[in-house]
Formats: sequence, C-alpha cells, structure tokens
Amino acid sequence: MRREHIPRFFDAQQLAVLAERHGARAEDTIEDFDQVPVGELARIEVLVTGWASPMLTPARLDLLPRLRAVIHTTGSVKALLEKETWGRGFLVSSAADQNALPVAEYALAMILLGAKQVLETSAAYRDDPTRADALRDRTDVGAFRTTVGVIGASRIGRRLLELLAAHDFEVVVFDPFLPDEEAQRLGVRSVALDELLRRSRIVSIHAPSTAQTRGMIGARELAAMPDGALLVNTSRAALLDQDALVAEVRSGRLRAVLDVTEPEVLPAGHPLLTLPGVVVTPHIAGAGGNELRRLGSSAFAEIARLDRGERLLHEVDDALLPISA
Ligand SMILES: NC(=O)c1ccc[n+]([C@@H]2O[C@H](COP(=O)([O-])OP(=O)(O)OC[C@H]3O[C@@H](n4cnc5c(N)ncnc54)[C@H](O)[C@@H]3O)[C@@H](O)[C@H]2O)c1
Repeated sequence: MRREHIPRFFDAQQLAVLAERHGARAEDTIEDFDQVPVGELARIEVLVTGWASPMLTPARLDLLPRLRAVIHTTGSVKALLEKETWGRGFLVSSAADQNALPVAEYALAMILLGAKQVLETSAAYRDDPTRADALRDRTDVGAFRTTVGVIGASRIGRRLLELLAAHDFEVVVFDPFLPDEEAQRLGVRSVALDELLRRSRIVSIHAPSTAQTRGMIGARELAAMPDGALLVNTSRAALLDQDALVAEVRSGRLRAVLDVTEPEVLPAGHPLLTLPGVVVTPHIAGAGGNELRRLGSSAFAEIARLDRGERLLHEVDDALLPISA
C-alpha cells in the first residue's frame, strides 16, 4: 500500500507488531516494482495492498515465488488482480465487509432524513420562517411504514437491510441473485425491479457495476417511481442515467442523494450541484477518516490468522467476481 496511507490504516501498536514479527516496515513499501531488487521481492510471503497499489500483473507475480497471501486493506480487488492471475496458489483477502458498514450507515442516514424531508424543510424554513406551521403540518412525510426499496442485496445492501430492520419501514429488495429463503431470513420481500420502483417512496442502489447493471436505472425506470420519491445512489454512477435523473429533479418530481457521479468530480455550476432537491457528496460514503482504522484492523487480524495457520475470514472467492464490486 502507499506509504502515506499506512498510519491512516494501522495504529502504532499494529505497526510495531508488523515490523517486529513480519519485518514489514513503512519505508519498505513497493511503490514501483522496478525499483525493488529481485532478491527482496523473492522473499515476500504476504503483500498488504490498498488504494493505488500497483496492479499485480502475471509478470510481477512471477517475481514473487513465495507469495502466500494478498491482504487488501480496502474493498474491491478488481483493479489489483487481473483475471488471469487467479488460481496461482496464493490467498486473497479484502476489507470490503468492513467498508460496507459506513456506506450502509450513510444510506440509512439519508433514508431517515429523506423520509422526514429534513434537508428540504430546513432550506424552506431558512428561506421563509413564516412557513413553519405549513412545514410542520405536512402529511406526505414520515418514516412510519414508508416503503424503502433496496436494489442489490450486496454486502452493503445486506448491512443496510440489517440497519433498516430496527426501524418501521416496509422494505422490498430487488436482486436476481438473492435466493427466496435468504430474503426470508433477512426479513424482506423480494420483488421485481419494476414493482420495487413503483412501490417505493425511497430507493437505495447497492448493486455492483457489471455488464448487467450498467444503465439499469434509466428514464423509464425513473418514470416508474412515484411523485416526490427519493433516489439514493452510493453504488456507482454507471448504474444510473444521470441526465434522465437531472430532468426528473429539475421538474420537481423526484429528489436524489448521490455519493457517486459522472464525472466523479463535478464541474462548478453542474445542475446536480445547484438544483434544489439534490444532495451530492464527493464519494465519501465508504470508509474515510477514522473509519480507515477499521479496515486496517481487519487486515491486521487477517495477517494474525495467517500467522496462526488459521483460515482467513475475508477470503475473496474469484468465482463471484463477475457479479461483485
Ligand atoms: N460510495 C462508496 O464510497 C462505495 C464504497 C464501497 C462500495 N461502493 C459500491 O457499492 C456497491 C455495492 O458494493 P458491495 O461491496 O456491497 O458489492 P458486492 O460485491 O457485495 O455485490 C455483489 C452482490 O450484488 C448483487 N448483484 C449483482 N448483480 C446484481 C444485479 N444485476 N441486480 C441486483 N443486485 C445484483 C448480488 O447479490 C451480488 O452477490 C458497488 O457498486 C460498489 O462499487 C461504493
């Protein structure tokens, strides 16, 4: 992983253990494979990787004959390992499960705020305090048995379903890979995408970006959502027709919370930054700030398991990669 990220992920005690027990020192990070003597690469048994780690191509892996495990401190490993590098005998673990929690928390927060229309009401109140009574007396707001639709029972989707269970929402889910008995165990009703969109006052997207999901929420799907509904997208911008969403928000029919956009950083003055009815954040839902230590602790625990000869808890199953983030 990148040198400057190390203290953000691991505390001093963990770093001391990694140095003493495994000879892993911050100054030994591999920023560029070509800069590391071949003899040193040949000794490596465990690679700890993260954002912006160099991709592990077949040629680079050839230089690591003793590699037993790649412990990835962040989520998806798709940008780290090429398809043809799987099955070479080393284990791969990722902290995607730990990264799921803050995203699910962000989505829950937006769903609760959205159900009560807190942000819109705050803005309207600030504009005209004499409207306080009218704003309080609305009948179209609230979290009591409001239907929430979750697209994708992914890691994040499932975490969100668990968090939603503590509230009084009606929850429906769309996921072609979710067996009925699993939906039952999660306490949710599995429905077709069209039905989810028609019924839900709030829709939260948690599917991965794959060939099948790209553009899955287009103009037709947005038109199926009820007037005043809220769309929350923390997944990837590619799943959503952003222009169609802008048109729906501009007309005042839909509201949106977007943590992911196309382009990733919007230019100043972009409609999503200026239209009322939209909350945009610059890809902050996943682990950030002190939450990175949760990811580091997960990676540290995986290394300790390897050390003790135990099974990894967060091993990545490459067979699931085509339908995963
Ligand atoms: N905003 C952020 O900071 C942030 C952080 C992490 C992940 N993400 C994104 O959140 C999404 C979920 O991530 P994850 O790690 O939970 O994913 P994941 O790898 O757990 O998702 C895989 C699951 O998604 C479901 N799925 C696959 N294809 C589907 C389809 N066509 N329709 C509906 N469901 C489908 C299946 O249940 C599958 O098992 C991804 O798009 C990911 O890129 C965003």
